[in-house]
Amino acid sequence: MADQPSIAVLGAGSIGCWIGGAWSAAGLPVTLIGRERIGAEIAEHGLTVTDYKGGRIALGPDEVRFTARPQALKDADVIALCVKSIDTESAAREIARHGRKGATVISFQNGVSNADTLRKALPRFQVAQGMVPFNVAHLGRGRWHKGVQGDLVAEGTPVTERISELTAGTPAHLLLARDMKPIAWGKLLFNLNNAINALSGKTLLEELSVRDYRRVLAASMIETLEVLKAAGIAPAKLGPIAPALLPHAIGAPDFVFRNLLLRVMKIDAKARSSMADDFAAGRRTEIDHLNGEVVRLAGAIGRKAPVNQAIVDLVKQYEEGVERIWSADELRRYVLEGHRTVRGFGY
Ligand SMILES: NC(=O)c1ccc[n+]([C@@H]2O[C@H](COP(=O)([O-])OP(=O)(O)OC[C@H]3O[C@@H](n4cnc5c(N)ncnc54)[C@H](OP(=O)(O)O)[C@@H]3O)[C@@H](O)[C@H]2O)c1
Repeated sequence: MADQPSIAVLGAGSIGCWIGGAWSAAGLPVTLIGRERIGAEIAEHGLTVTDYKGGRIALGPDEVRFTARPQALKDADVIALCVKSIDTESAAREIARHGRKGATVISFQNGVSNADTLRKALPRFQVAQGMVPFNVAHLGRGRWHKGVQGDLVAEGTPVTERISELTAGTPAHLLLARDMKPIAWGKLLFNLNNAINALSGKTLLEELSVRDYRRVLAASMIETLEVLKAAGIAPAKLGPIAPALLPHAIGAPDFVFRNLLLRVMKIDAKARSSMADDFAAGRRTEIDHLNGEVVRLAGAIGRKAPVNQAIVDLVKQYEEGVERIWSADELRRYVLEGHRTVRGFGY
C-alpha cells in the first residue's frame, strides 16, 4: 500500500458521497463508484458536503472522480462499502471479481452482521467493520448534509490507523475502536426508530413529538436491551444518554422528552428515516438487518422478541404492497397490545 492509500467508495449514495467528498477534500485519492444518476448530478453541480454546524466543503465536478464501473475497484487499497445492507452480498461479488486481493474493505453500513457476511464472502480481503453514527441527507444539486453530531468509527487495523492519521482534524476524521460489536448494537438501538418513522408517514420531528409512537420505540428498545443482556452484549453509549436510560427518556411525557432529548438531537425539520425513503421509492428495506437482528438474536438464545417481530411484520407487509400509514394510537395498539409483559412501562 502506498503512503496515501487509494480509496474506492462502493455505493455512492448518501453516506458514500458524504464520506467520499470529505475524504477527497482531505487530500485522499478517492474514486466514487455508484449509479449513473448520481454521477450526472455531480457532473452538473459538483459535490458539496455540509453539516449541522454550518461546515461546508464544495468540490467542483473536475475535483471528483466518479464512475459507474465496478472495474475501478481494481486500483483500490481500501474499499469503503456504503451500499444498503440488502445489497451487501451482491457488492461482495463485485469486490471478489474486480478488487485487488488483500485490499481492505470497510463496511460503513448499519446493522450488526455486514462485516461477518463480508468476511465469509471475501476470504482473500481484509474486512474492517465501521459505523456512521450520524444521519446524512441528500439535499439534491450535488449536496449531502450531515444532520447531527457524531464521528466515523472503524475497528483498528494498520490500514484504518493510516486513514485515521490522514483524516485527523477534518470533518470526516476516522476514529478507531478495539471492539465494534457494542458500537454496532448501540447504533442499532437508535435505528429501531427507522421502521416506526416509515410506518408513521411523518417527518422524524412530527413522529417523535407524538408520545404513542415513542412508547412503541421505547418498548422495542427495552425488549432489545433485555435480549442483549441475556446474550451478554453491552451496547455502547452513543450520544448523551446511556443505553439503559434511553427508553425512559424516549417514553417520557412530551415536555420531558422535548427538553431532554429533542433539543440535543437537533433534527432537521424535513428529515425522515432512510426506511421512509425506501417506502416512498418502493424499495426493499433494511428491516431484516435492524429489528430483524433483535428477533434473530432472541431466537438464538431461546427467547422471543414480540415487539420487534410485530414491527418487522408491518414493514414486510408494506414491502409486499400493503401501503398503510399507521396513526400513533393504531401502532401502539397493534404492536403493544398483548405484549404487556415488556417491563418498565405501564402500557
Ligand atoms: N443515510 C444515513 O443517514 C445513514 C446513516 C448511517 C448509516 N447509514 C447506513 O449506510 C448504508 C448506506 O445508506 P445510504 O443512506 O447511503 O444509502 P443510499 O443513499 O441508498 O446509497 C447507496 C447507493 O449505493 C448504490 N448501489 C447499490 N449497490 C451498488 C453497487 N453494487 N455498485 C454501485 N452502487 C451501488 C445504490 O443504488 P440503488 O439505489 O440504485 O441500488 C445507492 O445509490 C446503509 O446501511 C444505511 O443504513 C445511513
